[in-house]
Order: sequence, then C-alpha cells, then structure tokens
Amino acid sequence: MRELCVIMPDFGRAYARHFPTKDVSHGEPLPRTPVGCEQLDSQRDGMFADMVMATPEFTPLALLRLLDGFRGTKALTAAVRLGVFDLLASEGTLSALACAQRLKLEERPARMLLTACTALGLLDFDGYGFANSSSADEFLVRSRPLYFGDFVLLVDEEQYQPWGDLVAALQENRPVVWAPQAEKRFPADRADIEPLFWNGMSSVSAFTAHAVSRSFDFSGFRSLLDVGGGRGDFSIELCMHQPRLRATVYDLPSVCRLTERKVAASGLSDRIGAQAGDLLLDDELPAGHDLILLSNVLHMWDEATVVKALRKCLTALNDGGALVVAEAFVDDDGTGPVGAALMSLNMLVHTAGGRNYTRREYEAWLTAAGFSAICRVPLIVDAPGANGLVIGRK
Ligand SMILES: C[S@@+](CC[C@H](N)C(=O)[O-])C[C@H]1O[C@@H](n2cnc3c(N)ncnc32)[C@H](O)[C@@H]1O
Repeated sequence: MRELCVIMPDFGRAYARHFPTKDVSHGEPLPRTPVGCEQLDSQRDGMFADMVMATPEFTPLALLRLLDGFRGTKALTAAVRLGVFDLLASEGTLSALACAQRLKLEERPARMLLTACTALGLLDFDGYGFANSSSADEFLVRSRPLYFGDFVLLVDEEQYQPWGDLVAALQENRPVVWAPQAEKRFPADRADIEPLFWNGMSSVSAFTAHAVSRSFDFSGFRSLLDVGGGRGDFSIELCMHQPRLRATVYDLPSVCRLTERKVAASGLSDRIGAQAGDLLLDDELPAGHDLILLSNVLHMWDEATVVKALRKCLTALNDGGALVVAEAFVDDDGTGPVGAALMSLNMLVHTAGGRNYTRREYEAWLTAAGFSAICRVPLIVDAPGANGLVIGRK
C-alpha cells in the first residue's frame, strides 16, 4: 500500500468520489484499519483501508499489471536481441557477473535485466546463477527447432513503434505503419525486416497449422488451395499430416519465390506448388481444388473486400468442397477474447480497412455468398495464430 500511495497519492480521494464507502461495503460498516501511509491524511488512510478490506479487486494493481505489459515486452525483446538465452543455452548456469562480461554489459544493467527475466519466468535462479527456464530454452534459443525469437523481434520492429501511434490510428481511422500495402510492407532501407517477418510468421503459423491439422478431419480432401498461404507453413503441415493431400500456395509474386524455397527445404516440392496471383486483382482463383484455406488473410481487409474474396473462393471450389477460415475470431458479443481483440486493434494500426471478425459475421457472409453446411470448429489446443475455424461447403 505504501508503494501505491506514493505512486497515486490522489487515488484515495478519487476512489471515494466514485465509489462511496457504503456502495463498496454493500451497506455494511467497514473496519477502518490504518495502512501505514503516514504522509497521507487520516481521512485518506481510511479510504485505502476500506478499499483493501472490502473489495481487493478495487485497487489499481490490476491496472499497474496492464501498464507493466510494455515493460515485460521490452525486457523480453532486449534479452532476445542481446542473446541472453543463446548464451545460457551454451554455457549453462552463469552468475550475473559472468553474464554481464559475456554480453558485454556492465554488471548493474545486466543484473537488472536478469532479475526482470527471472521475475517474468524466462530464467531460473538457483541462488548462485541464472539459467534458461524450460520454455525459454525451447522457444528463445536460436538453434532450437521451435525457435520463436524472430517473432519476438518482429513484434519489436514491426508493431512496437506503430502502436505508439495508436491514438492517431483511432482518431483518424487509418494505419500508422510505414506502408500498409502488403507488397510494400517493408521500408526500402530495412532489408533485415523481411526475413524477420517470414521467420516470425512461420514460427506462429507452424504451431497454428499443427493445431488446425489435428482439429478437423482433412483426410477426405485431395487438393488444397492455400490462399495467401505465405511461405506455405499450413500447406506443409497439412500435407505432412495427410499423405494423400497435394497443395497449391497462392500468394503475391514476391512471396511465391520464398514459398518455393521453404517447400523445397521441407522435401515436399513434389506435392506442394506455388502459384503467383493477387486475390484482390485477379477475377478468378485457380480452380480444381476441393479444399480452400484462408488463414490470417481476411482480417487484413474491409468487409466488402472479404465478401468479394469469399465469392471468388466459392466459384473456384470444386462441388462438395470446403472453405476453411482460420483466424483469431472475436467473440460474437464483441467482448473478447483478449488475443483476438488486440490482434484486431493491430489490424487498425497496420491496415486500411481490416479487423478481426466474429464467427457470426463469417457465417453470415458465407451464407450470403452461397456456402452451405457452415459450422464452427474449435481447436484442440490454443494456437498463437487462430482460436478456431469456420467452415463452409459448396
Ligand atoms: C499474415 S500472412 C498469413 C500467411 C499464411 N496464410 C499463414 O497463416 O501462415 C498474410 C498473407 O497474405 C498474403 N497476401 C496479402 N495480400 C494478398 C493478395 N492481394 N493476394 C494474395 N495474397 C495476399 C501475404 O503475402 C501473406 O502471405
């Protein structure tokens, strides 16, 4: 409480104005326990005591936790950028001083970063030195197969700064990134961002594709069109899981070059191809597929564009085929969940008309486009890039 009183000395009075004591206590008289904020007057002391005794949730601590979010983000991104987790993976447990020396930092800031990372669950401390926690060891060490650090750095590079202009994005209803159009999404003088984007995207998509491939029975399908499929992470995962499936990744020309490289590295070039195109400009999508996937694509665009895209998918799809939309859906009542709601705001920051839509909106658009047997499919595990599927049949 002392800490709170110092941070927010006027909070007690403000609290009392908005939440009079009798409301807080539901009419019951409250004990007035001194809370040790000597620098405050006794009346305010009482307010804090009431607040703590009566309804612990009515303190600003939850708000402070929210405000701490950016500090946690920056501690994580700094530790990844400085190579803390790579160092500890190769050296095992190290004292703060040894870490400081290897990271070429002075001891004071190194200790502070190590303390923050330990508090955040990224490191373990055994009384002598620091070591990677099991999840940091799995996901934040560059040499590990499930390395997630490029996505961490991507968020830092591509999202952190633009989110600083969130108020402008809200007031002017416009993106605040350097170039919202997909083909020009990276600034000319930042050649380093492009590989970061695709590596980061892959680390999210590989997890999500794994969950998607096990959440719905894809065994009856033979030919997938992965619209806006990026480097092909979903196609690769689905084809690995379904040996009789073949796939075509349909994406912008500049992306298809990267897709071919990634598919070749996966050893699936005989079953997965890339076809360059532009979903917005092309009148028709490649035909002859019994499965079309749209993963994290439609939320980039406004409603009218989404509806047009769904119609193009219906036309391209074989009779009896299925269209699968995979995304972080906002709840139908628009109250969450947090991941989808914040991703939606990210679409405000990054795109001219996109947002994360609800399942109900997709159901209505799919119905209007002419799809039938529309259903919602939950994922068997939480995935970073989607919280379910909406599927329609032709
Ligand atoms: C967020 S990424 C999703 C990639 C992939 N579907 C996944 O979930 O891993 C969006 C993808 O849409 C592609 N895209 C953007 N505009 C497009 C367009 N007009 N036509 C086709 N693809 C497009 C991008 O190049 C990118 O690969």
